[in-house]
Amino acid sequence: MSSHTYAVGLATAVEDSVPAADHQPGLAVQEARPLAVRVKNLVRSFGDRPVIDGLDLDVGAGEFVALLGPSGCGKSTLLRILAGLDTQIQGEVACARRRAVAFQAPRLLPWKNVWRNVVLGLPGRPEKARATQALAEVGLAHRGNAWPATLSGGEAQRAALARALVREPELLLLDEPFAALDALTRLRAQDLVAQLWRRHEPAVVLVTHDVEEALLLADRVLVMGHGVIEHDVSLDLRRPRDVADPEFAVLRKQLLRWLGVG
Ligand SMILES: Nc1ncnc2c1ncn2[C@@H]1O[C@H](COP(=O)(O)OP(=O)(O)O)[C@@H](O)[C@H]1O
Ligand SMILES: [Mg+2]
Repeated sequence: MSSHTYAVGLATAVEDSVPAADHQPGLAVQEARPLAVRVKNLVRSFGDRPVIDGLDLDVGAGEFVALLGPSGCGKSTLLRILAGLDTQIQGEVACARRRAVAFQAPRLLPWKNVWRNVVLGLPGRPEKARATQALAEVGLAHRGNAWPATLSGGEAQRAALARALVREPELLLLDEPFAALDALTRLRAQDLVAQLWRRHEPAVVLVTHDVEEALLLADRVLVMGHGVIEHDVSLDLRRPRDVADPEFAVLRKQLLRWLGVG
């Protein structure tokens, strides 16, 4: 096992280097494209089995990326690495400094009320007002004093989103955040994430097993398999997305085929 680099918070956004066009007369100087994630030749093994095996990935600042792939292919492993929760890697990973994660289970501490859960882990002694503001963004300002056990599944997941938002992330990492919600609550939660993304413009990496969810929300859809990103599609669909759009149906079919389902 050789060296690895784990560079989190290198800069506010990682600057992608661009060829020195300014030395060539007649060529305009290109803007450097800021990145929220840069991964090069990433390997993560459990025992001697590499789950991630030479993976490359760039995510632009403010870009919304959905990550699909069969169960067990390493999506959560990749997300945990991007979140800085797993550093047993080889290769290079650089991420924007301010990151926040939300998982399928809201993971609220039952012995702290909702607003204290929202600001949990923030430096200093964060004021309740700060939590209330984030809760207001997800429609839960009135539930700040409630105990987590009294929230519905949808409310608990929105509280988890508030906890992510209060960190003002440049990179928001979501691991199947809506998978446990009923269909209607899931649609509302998807809509909320789309709104929050437009308002705050973080880069988002959303792990999902739902092809439609990916097509409704993302700028770009990645399909993971065999330890790498096997397919990478930029979506050129109008927003708000419309499942009745013929283009939508074509992409849906293609993605399902890549996933081995259609
Ligand atoms: N801490 C761990 N120890 C051993 N194996 C693990 C660990 N975490 C994940 N794995 C294995 O790595 C593979 C990918 O897991 P995961 O990233 O959770 O997949 P996905 O999220 O795509 O369903 C699975 O085979 C899983 O069993
Ligand atoms: Mg997973």
